[in-house]
Amino acid sequence: MDAAKEIAEYERAALAAIAAAADAEALEAARVEFLGKKKGRLKNLQKLLGQVSAEERPVLGQKFNDVKTRVTAALEARRAELDRPAAAVEGIDVTLPGKPLRLGKRHPLTQTIGEFKSIMARLGFSVVDGPEIEDEKHNFEALNISAIHPARDPLDNFYLATAESRSGGPLLLRSQTSTVQIRVMENTPPPVRIVSLGRVYRPDTIDATHSCMFHQMEGLWIAEGVTLADLKTVLRLFATSYLGDDVTIRFRPSFFPFTEPSVEVDMHWGDDWMEIGGAGMVDPNVLRSVGYDPEQVTGFAFGLGIERFCMRRHGITDIRRFYENDVRFLQQF
Ligand code: PHE
Repeated sequence: MDAAKEIAEYERAALAAIAAAADAEALEAARVEFLGKKKGRLKNLQKLLGQVSAEERPVLGQKFNDVKTRVTAALEARRAELDRPAAAVEGIDVTLPGKPLRLGKRHPLTQTIGEFKSIMARLGFSVVDGPEIEDEKHNFEALNISAIHPARDPLDNFYLATAESRSGGPLLLRSQTSTVQIRVMENTPPPVRIVSLGRVYRPDTIDATHSCMFHQMEGLWIAEGVTLADLKTVLRLFATSYLGDDVTIRFRPSFFPFTEPSVEVDMHWGDDWMEIGGAGMVDPNVLRSVGYDPEQVTGFAFGLGIERFCMRRHGITDIRRFYENDVRFLQQF
């Protein structure tokens, strides 16, 4: 038998067996057959080499070593290939990088609400919640808003269609967070010092500055000796905490049925004045309606538009952007 031919035949058979090995077990069988140390075809080849003539031996020995190196390398390569996850599973290339997970973040209004809460907490106000579906007592009557007041016009409110059938009287989506003033005072003896932040609903025509749903922050501080000066101090500290020291607060005389005196609150920041909400000293009628004694305690209430502050700070010019769920807008905050 021609030793050179044997070596070539060995290489051909070994490479074919390695390439054909479909799993680790088949590959191991090929290894034992072609590279096994004790017996197997490599051993046989070595024996054959021992029989060739002295002048042939160096050349054939070199050939033998090269073939052995190539077969060993092919075996390693095939082993690495089998170890890797299948390159194609049902048409999906699992070796490609995955789609990156997108990190979500809080809505800009939720961020603003969180910031407002922590500013007000530092000023000693605790945070309370109130229902968005209200009765006329809490949305109007206890707030001194009489039945003939224009704010009670059914066309200016979202009354619930099923409300009439309920025993407790008509229900509506609250048009202001002042409802929470009543709910807190009904259940807590003075002193109280709270804020409540949440949605309110009004059938306004929607445009860049109006929405039929928006957010307010209500504040209420009732105790002995609380004055209008405290109101202005709290609002100024709040606004400077949110926007910086260059904020000025201005009161303009106004009217609300549940405060006396009442003011519109304006804020100067940057280049111009902007109205931020309404406020005033809580009307004695309101204090009496919840069982407080207006001779004993006084206090103030305020209601601020949350969107306005957020829009101002971030230069947002259209309130509708907040509610459209457009990630391109939302991810900027
Ligand atoms: N509730 C009033 C509004 O929505 C604002 C307000 C709150 C005024 C508290 C006075 C006191 O317009």
